[in-house]
Amino acid sequence: MVDSFRIGIAGLGTVGAGVIKILQTHQTMISGRAGCSVEIVAVSARDKSKDRGVDLSRYEWLDKAASLAGRDDLDAVVELIGGEEGDALELARNALDNGISFVTANKALLAHHGYDLAVLAEENNVSLMYEAAVAGGIPIIKSLREGFAANEIEAVYGILNGTCNYILTEMRETGRPFSDVLKEAQDKGYAEADPEFDIEGIDSAHKLCLLSSLAFGVKPDFQTLKAQGISHITAADISYAQELGYRIKLLGISRQIDGTIIQMVEPCLVSESSTMGAVEGVFNAVFVEGDFVGTELQIGRGAGEGPTASAIVADIIDLARGYKVPAFGIPALMLADANKGDPGEMESRFYIHLTVIDKPGVLAEITAIMRDHDVSMEDVLQRGRDPENSASVVITSHSTKQAEIHKAVAKIESLDFVVKNPTLLRIENF
Ligand code: NAP
Ligand code: HSE
Repeated sequence: MVDSFRIGIAGLGTVGAGVIKILQTHQTMISGRAGCSVEIVAVSARDKSKDRGVDLSRYEWLDKAASLAGRDDLDAVVELIGGEEGDALELARNALDNGISFVTANKALLAHHGYDLAVLAEENNVSLMYEAAVAGGIPIIKSLREGFAANEIEAVYGILNGTCNYILTEMRETGRPFSDVLKEAQDKGYAEADPEFDIEGIDSAHKLCLLSSLAFGVKPDFQTLKAQGISHITAADISYAQELGYRIKLLGISRQIDGTIIQMVEPCLVSESSTMGAVEGVFNAVFVEGDFVGTELQIGRGAGEGPTASAIVADIIDLARGYKVPAFGIPALMLADANKGDPGEMESRFYIHLTVIDKPGVLAEITAIMRDHDVSMEDVLQRGRDPENSASVVITSHSTKQAEIHKAVAKIESLDFVVKNPTLLRIENF
């Protein structure tokens, strides 16, 4: 047992300042839980003069975050800079190489370099910890790595991005435009430095890679994961979905089927009366299906200072306790390459929103194409005729193969009476 566990913190923004706040507020309680005092030795950010709402006077200030990795008075470096390359990656590599454990909230870094960093941590007999990287305050990394360790995991899925869920909820509840709500999410500290990562589904894809790795014992593999975000979802889609009894959620889904892993990040319709449908605002929800435990669900705040910093401090306490686990649940060198399945073979129901010139024969042509692709329609709504004579046609299908409905919609899109890109969304039964 050590008397104190010494850390250096790189990055003092939303999460970094939050970590310092928790460590200062709960100093005595945390020492009791950790079995030793947790001491911040040094901190680093870009601008020393910035007021961060926390007292930094007791800590050594470093202009270069990278210099934390070369010190011999640290047990762990906490990286809260962000970015998949650059200073964050250099700091991770050098700290681990120097025998210093590494704690991060940086899912982009781990989705790209998680395997190499996990190998490096094991070679140097130190830990790579990242509870805060997925689903904010929800302890889903620990759950998958430890709590569900007895199970073969069949699927892990859920709402993994707080910013998108906040935007979709606010747009539905208040009718405010996308850009206004995104700005508010940024002001609240939910969004990534580049919010395109949130709204184009990239952040959810980073997180899903890490969940897949833990769940299925495979290397994190971001490169082959195609993600779709919410930037093409309109207020009309949200409203039609509501009229049909659904809510739109950006979901990350990873499923093991016949030895293959199918991963998807895309906005989906879920029933408004379902548990997933009721997860609103900045909240995330992660479902895990295990062969013995059954289906488990965790819900909590997925972004923001307090929840994210709470997860970082939990990792620090674990390390101070002397706790050590492989980053992805099994020794890194045992992680396999994922055998990727084909999402096109998946069957589900779909929502299709078409904007068409309102004239005789339009519906007949659409339904003929659907028929040719063996797509059976469940419901059809036609709404409005605007001054340009266009109308919205909203169709929900019965269960159908994804590849077939994509082909059908591509053909429909090429018809001369279709005036906007169609919106095609999966309807999930979660
Ligand atoms: P942030 O508010 O933008 O803070 C980033 C911090 O890093 C700032 O203090 C900045 O310094 C500092 N910084 C930037 N470049 C640096 C460099 N080269 N060397 C040293 N410091 C540098 O970001 P954040 O929201 O706290 O996010 C940090 C990390 O946590 C990211 O990886 C993010 O993906 C992850 N994360 C965030 C949340 C969330 O809700 N915000 C949730 C989960 C995970 P200055 O302040 O001086 O400019
Ligand atoms: N930008 C991320 C989100 C932060 O909104 O979910 C939490 O990882």
